[in-house]
Amino acid sequence: MIFYFSGCGNSKHVAETIAAGLNDNLVFIPEAAREGRYEYELAEGERLGFVFPIYSWSPPKLVLDFVKKMQLKAKPDYLYFVCTCGDNCGLTEKVFRKAIEEKGWHLSACFSVQMPETYIGMPGFKLDTPENAQRKIDKANDLLKRNIPRLINKECFSEIIVGSLAWLKTYLVNPGFNRSATDDSKYCVNEVCIHCGKCVETCPLKNITLEDGHPKWHGQCTMCMGCYHHCPVNAIQYGKATVGKGQYVFR
Ligand SMILES: Cc1cc2nc3c(=O)[nH]c(=O)nc-3n(C[C@H](O)[C@H](O)[C@H](O)COP(=O)(O)O)c2cc1C
Ligand code: SF4
Ligand code: SF4
Repeated sequence: MIFYFSGCGNSKHVAETIAAGLNDNLVFIPEAAREGRYEYELAEGERLGFVFPIYSWSPPKLVLDFVKKMQLKAKPDYLYFVCTCGDNCGLTEKVFRKAIEEKGWHLSACFSVQMPETYIGMPGFKLDTPENAQRKIDKANDLLKRNIPRLINKECFSEIIVGSLAWLKTYLVNPGFNRSATDDSKYCVNEVCIHCGKCVETCPLKNITLEDGHPKWHGQCTMCMGCYHHCPVNAIQYGKATVGKGQYVFR
């Protein structure tokens, strides 16, 4: 069973590729959480996988919250996670390992996959060029081809791109990010909106409704930037930070 989260499609692509390689089932974490589905039963020898994007050098809080609430009938014998990142992951492995060890489970394998950048919510952060984005996707697909057989064989390994100043980023910057991530008050829509409802449909947390044809955010955001990137006419902005930066969605 593979539990996954994705805002802009990168981690969904990785989760779907692994699920196809392992002939495994997928569970979308926000949907399961919304429906209160926390109890699961694994078949004998079944692998337990998690796939998610890196948010501020850590797993997204909603993924950690879900893991905390999960209940399994028996301990998984092979547990792995795969995280997608634009650059690097800080001490994500340490954070995730602690979360699952608190449940009495054991982490067997993990690896990170560099994918196109999706975060542009602050000055200085920008998307990859289309050429760089494609290069990352090609490399990611090669990496998946190499690592899926290792998951099939239940190999123990850890291949995470940690990056510089990892402790500082994961343990000092990330808590600040988590405190502000639900604050969607900077999201706004301009006059080019065509009232299509794609932002409503896209939001994994069902945090957007259309009011008089325009999106309204309801303060339960996880900052995935999916609404911004999926809008067909680029009508959504996050304050001034996103203006002129373009959009990216995995297709
Ligand atoms: C809020 C936010 C924070 C992010 N923080 C990081 C980060 O700390 N390090 C990194 O390399 N990429 C970071 N990224 C980029 C994403 O991890 C990366 O693009 C990921 O593949 C997006 O996955 P998705 O398309 O499944 O949502 C961040 C993206 C978002 C939206
Ligand atoms: S996706 Fe864009 S165009 Fe469609 S309703 Fe939302 S803001 Fe408007
Ligand atoms: S409101 Fe936008 S950024 Fe926030 S969780 Fe929904 S899609 Fe993601």
